[in-house]
Amino acid sequence: MTADTTAFLDDLMARMTLDEKLGQLNLVTGNIPLPDDRAADIRAGRIGGMLGGLVDCTFGVHGPAALRAVQEIAVNESRLGIPLLFAYDVIHGHHTVLPIPLALSCTWNPDLIEAAARVAAREATACGLNWVFSPMLDIARDPRWGRIAEGSGEDPYLGARIAEAMVRGLQGDDLADPESVMACIKHFIAYGAAEGGRDYNNADVSLARLMEVYLPPFLAALNAGAGSAMLSFAAVNRIPSHADADLLRLLDGVLKVSDFNAIPEMIAHGLGDERGGIDADDPLQTLSERALRAGVQMDMMGHGYASRLAAGVAAGRVSAAEVDAACRAVLEAKVKLGLFADPFARFDEARAARNLRAPAYRTLARQLAADSCVLLKNAGDLLPLAPEGLKLAVVGPLADDAWNLLGPWSFQGDREGAVSVLDGIRAVPGVTVRHARGADIVDDARMIELLNFAGPKVGRDPRPAAEMIAEAVAAARAADVVVAVLGEAAEMSGEAASRMDIGLPACQRALLEALHATGKPVVLVLANGRPLTLPWEAEHVPAILVSWFGGCEAGPAVADLLFGRRAPSGRLTTTWPRHVGQVPLAYDRATTGRPGSRDADPGKYTTRCYLDGSSEPLFPFGFGLGFTTFAYAPPVADATDLAGDDAVLTVSVAVTNTGGRAGEETVQMYLTDPVASVVRPGKQLKGFAKLALAPGETGTVAFRLTTADLAFPDASLRRVWEPGRFIVGIGPHADALQTVEVTWRAGA
Ligand code: NOJ
Repeated sequence: MTADTTAFLDDLMARMTLDEKLGQLNLVTGNIPLPDDRAADIRAGRIGGMLGGLVDCTFGVHGPAALRAVQEIAVNESRLGIPLLFAYDVIHGHHTVLPIPLALSCTWNPDLIEAAARVAAREATACGLNWVFSPMLDIARDPRWGRIAEGSGEDPYLGARIAEAMVRGLQGDDLADPESVMACIKHFIAYGAAEGGRDYNNADVSLARLMEVYLPPFLAALNAGAGSAMLSFAAVNRIPSHADADLLRLLDGVLKVSDFNAIPEMIAHGLGDERGGIDADDPLQTLSERALRAGVQMDMMGHGYASRLAAGVAAGRVSAAEVDAACRAVLEAKVKLGLFADPFARFDEARAARNLRAPAYRTLARQLAADSCVLLKNAGDLLPLAPEGLKLAVVGPLADDAWNLLGPWSFQGDREGAVSVLDGIRAVPGVTVRHARGADIVDDARMIELLNFAGPKVGRDPRPAAEMIAEAVAAARAADVVVAVLGEAAEMSGEAASRMDIGLPACQRALLEALHATGKPVVLVLANGRPLTLPWEAEHVPAILVSWFGGCEAGPAVADLLFGRRAPSGRLTTTWPRHVGQVPLAYDRATTGRPGSRDADPGKYTTRCYLDGSSEPLFPFGFGLGFTTFAYAPPVADATDLAGDDAVLTVSVAVTNTGGRAGEETVQMYLTDPVASVVRPGKQLKGFAKLALAPGETGTVAFRLTTADLAFPDASLRRVWEPGRFIVGIGPHADALQTVEVTWRAGA
């Protein structure tokens, strides 16, 4: 803040009443047309910002003019004319729906992800928004948890690089730029550690784990200048984040906002007040005070700040200074967004017309959707397909479905403009397509009802299952190749969408088995928001392409890959288990005192793990195929004996495209600290680089390592690096590394 801004805010706050200050802390839903009581509250200075409700938000539909009218009430009709924040869950594009964040992370391409976030910011600001509840930075290692779809997977290093990119893309160089929005990093913290993968659940996480796994993306985003942070619904280590003053101190300097109704929800968590007296019947009083004292500055739909804190101040349980600090944080955000300089800068109809659904965004959306796809299997080089004269059966409940491919959190998405896989394939010249639905996405009536909360995305075919399968089998028999588009409905992931069985729904699996039994080659295209357990599929289906929820251009992007117009280059950012019983199974698990080879020595007592199956993943972290092959030379270290804090190690590797097609490889570098004072992860990602190589071409990547990369929280949680041996592994995924060992001694 400049001296001028400080003076401006000092002056403004000196003129504000306590109620007006509390009004700034009040974040409420904002549907249009605005109900009379909301308008009255804005006029009275009782509202600091508004957010779009999940289902009923109409900001985007009504365009900037409607929202401008709301801002006009705040600016022209309230006593102090303080502009409002307008927030929305812009999670993966806004009108132009881009692939879900988990998909985007599989590009391992922060620059591309930054460009995606910039597009989202342009469209959000075209609608008059100035704040988005994104990026979600929760590291997630439990595929049962539906919100794994909203983040960047299981790794803190990759998550941190993506977090920075997202913040840069959303906020641009200057938050006051009318095409920039304030990012809101969420959910602080360890929401992804929810017990059992059950949404809204609590987590018991050691502080060392918080530091090593859950915090890095948040710290990176803070470093990149993220303007705000949202707290998590979870109680972590017994304290709901909304009441955890110690944790919230890590967010000093950014605007801290509660999650939706989360302050009152601490009552159900079992906090509140039972001492009798003033609070006895009003735990919201106690909890609103506690949240403010802990550092929560804006109350999203909890209503306790607006209705209870004045009494708290009067009784001396919260101080005027605490209210002032929170109010100043909100006002500072508004200054940074340029809202005082020009509260209407984001309501520019001409820019909206240019920026909403711009054709260039579709081009980017198609590239993102293709680059997000991960090819898991391609036996006999079944892919790419040669289109000329090809008879294709395109089957499955998600083949002729563009809506579900938009994924969760796409409420403002341009549904009509979205293209299905069937249409994407039909647009390829030379191919004859026969389509059959083959199965419903799910056949459980209760689940269908739950999935359709945001619109009728999951339907039921009136025909019996056997009849649908028979039709698909007939199409398959008449075809050269079968493309089966199977997987999840959009709302099978996202908020409150955990699954205990993460395989293909039984009705789809039955279809796939019938298709396989025809003997025709089957390409399984998955639409999904989480890792799935597919041991049967991986064994029997020759080609498997994970397309996630790819957004509005998912169909053309999948067609691009199937027919080789682009080569698949995505790599998994989550470990894929064989069976849900293996979860959690992140790649960086520590070795035990009885490691051995569990699969090689299953009969050996000391290496036995599961009696009923392998303990190895089905597909490891970092894995993905292309249409060519790459050979890695052994990595070369520029020194094998280093000393001191300031030494720098460079490890290089040469990678050659040994196949017949151009391709892109994601070269990954992992570090192992084989001996330490505490048990360390078996390996940790410390670097990656993408190489685009023509057939026969060799490229070299040089990775730098410093002692910051060696450091970890020791038993007393100090970040230290411990001299000794270190192993640097480089390869195409976490389970295929060639290593070089170095010794790093203490100071020279
Ligand atoms: C609850 C979700 O946890 C959060 O991610 C979202 O931003 C808010 N609702 C607002 O919709």
